[in-house]
Amino acid sequence: MKKTLSLTLNRIIQEAKADLLLGDIYLLLEHAIGRGKEFIYTYPMYSPTENELDRWEECRTRRLKGEPVSYITGWREFYSLDFKVDRFTLIPRQETELLVDQVLLRRPDSLLDIGTGCGNIAVSVRYHLNRCLVTAVDLSVKAVQMARYNANRLLGQHDIRFIKSNYFNELDKVEFDVIVSNPPYIKSSDIDRLPIEISSYEPRIALDGGSDGLMTYSKIIGDSQPYLSQAGKLILELDPELLGGVMTIAEEKNYTVENVVKDLGLNDRVIVLSP
Ligand SMILES: C[S@@+](CC[C@H](N)C(=O)[O-])C[C@H]1O[C@@H](n2cnc3c(N)ncnc32)[C@H](O)[C@@H]1O
Repeated sequence: MKKTLSLTLNRIIQEAKADLLLGDIYLLLEHAIGRGKEFIYTYPMYSPTENELDRWEECRTRRLKGEPVSYITGWREFYSLDFKVDRFTLIPRQETELLVDQVLLRRPDSLLDIGTGCGNIAVSVRYHLNRCLVTAVDLSVKAVQMARYNANRLLGQHDIRFIKSNYFNELDKVEFDVIVSNPPYIKSSDIDRLPIEISSYEPRIALDGGSDGLMTYSKIIGDSQPYLSQAGKLILELDPELLGGVMTIAEEKNYTVENVVKDLGLNDRVIVLSP
């Protein structure tokens, strides 16, 4: 079918609003025409080329099937930095920026990030604390590769150590001032009930917290003590419903709850533990 080359950005946006969110339309359109939001605002009467229209149609179709915008464009903003993401890495969430806030508040000299994904926490911390020695681990080799790519892009020369590791297994016996993690915490049986954007597209290894969602907390809290300095802190993201369970695990492992931080929706989202 012959493309309508007189189709303007303005018209595309108005038509797409019938079935897509405006924020998604802008991100996908930026990706399709390879120009920023400013261009779209400034030239609403621009007529995309045939290639650009083909790309837009592909983006729109993928989004309508449920694929997250970030996997279509390959990018996600986190802590005001642009991270490359793909189907092997969880898409960073806004709530997780709270973890970075909590780490930066404490200005640690050393940090371990467990389950680094695309490297969003590790790289954001290192970006703002350039003397902090950062180590980041993930069980997924593809995630480790992506995290390294993001660090190289965003930090240039850096000394973050990225390691493929099952939790602490591949680490030397080094002590860290802060251990941070946004671990997988969805109950296995709940994953298929999540929106299709998550259940069909995001990596299961990044979501699955076992039968009660607490498996990864038991492991991380249980094994972290030898890797924490004396005044060290363990800072974990959680689902608000898991707070009681995480606190019980912390007590059993002789940790003190220093703080529970709420997200913008006033849900308990981050727990700070001291050994
Ligand atoms: C919820 S995602 C968090 C990703 C990223 N840190 C963020 O906050 O967006 C959890 C991450 O933990 C990793 N992971 C799962 N099991 C692990 C294990 N046993 N050891 C290390 N990393 C693991 C997953 O591959 C995934 O990247």
